[in-house]
Amino acid sequence: MHRIYYFSGTGNSYYLAKKFAENFHDAVLVSIAHLDRGEDVLLDAECTGIFFPVYCGGVPVIVHNFLKRIVLPEGGQKGRFLYAVCTSSGVPGAALPIVEDILAERSIDVRACFHIRMPANYYPLSGALPEKQQQQIFQRAERALRIAAVMVKKRKKTHPLRIFPIDTFVKFVAGRAIATLAASDKAFKVNEKCTGCELCARVCPAANIALDQAGHPSWTHHCEQCMACLQWCPQGAIQYGKVDPERKRYHHPLVKAEELARPPVE
Ligand SMILES: Cc1cc2nc3c(=O)[nH]c(=O)nc-3n(C[C@H](O)[C@H](O)[C@H](O)COP(=O)(O)O)c2cc1C
Ligand code: SF4
Ligand code: SF4
Repeated sequence: MHRIYYFSGTGNSYYLAKKFAENFHDAVLVSIAHLDRGEDVLLDAECTGIFFPVYCGGVPVIVHNFLKRIVLPEGGQKGRFLYAVCTSSGVPGAALPIVEDILAERSIDVRACFHIRMPANYYPLSGALPEKQQQQIFQRAERALRIAAVMVKKRKKTHPLRIFPIDTFVKFVAGRAIATLAASDKAFKVNEKCTGCELCARVCPAANIALDQAGHPSWTHHCEQCMACLQWCPQGAIQYGKVDPERKRYHHPLVKAEELARPPVE
């Protein structure tokens, strides 16, 4: 069996994981956000992939905690191929070395690592790129994905470049920056356009959104800063700090919010 775990706020990593899975007849997709966080993740598939976005040159907290829960079955890793694919807007930093290092602590070997550039989704820094530019990035990403699929099929090894001491420094800076994200949700605000549809709470991978009686959101400060709530809100009702409320939102155009969301509560 080939199991592909993914974490994705705005659909980039999910879209690539889904396309990647099409290259393998036995691949199943598993959402990291929807796993039971109290349970170990048994590395028992013959092939396992992990798709995730780069945050601040490192890995999102939810992915970090997921990696810490991975355990080997009896008999160890022999015959089991593990690979990681990160998506970023062009600066992957130390994300892949961090994945390798977290798993190496438990003698788990990441056999292949890939970085694929996708459009930026960090709304506080930039809005959606013009469509033409997005399409160019998607085309290059699909090519890179095809190459990665061939390499995984052939069980080829590939490791991220490490330049000591730069990688150690980037890892340190990434860790510091990521630690500030949980409370950065204080900048989220919701305006009168909110219809109380509850989608923001359902797409939140961190259960960080409380809804009042009218279904209007508030944020509870254990945020991943994945931008899903803001980017998927169908009304554009969520704003961030002093950012121009008209800044263009982004999510992957071929992904639907429902593919990432928890089902509605009856
Ligand atoms: C909190 C946060 C931090 C980010 N940091 C980086 C970064 O350090 N380097 C980079 O190239 N892209 C960065 N990005 C952009 C995302 O990695 C990129 O858009 C990714 O493809 C989003 O994937 P997703 O749609 O699966 O969530 C960041 C995005 C977020 C939300
Ligand atoms: S997704 Fe938007 S419209 Fe729906 S409840 Fe959340 S803020 Fe309101
Ligand atoms: S509150 Fe918004 S930005 Fe924070 S984790 Fe949830 S969906 Fe992502």
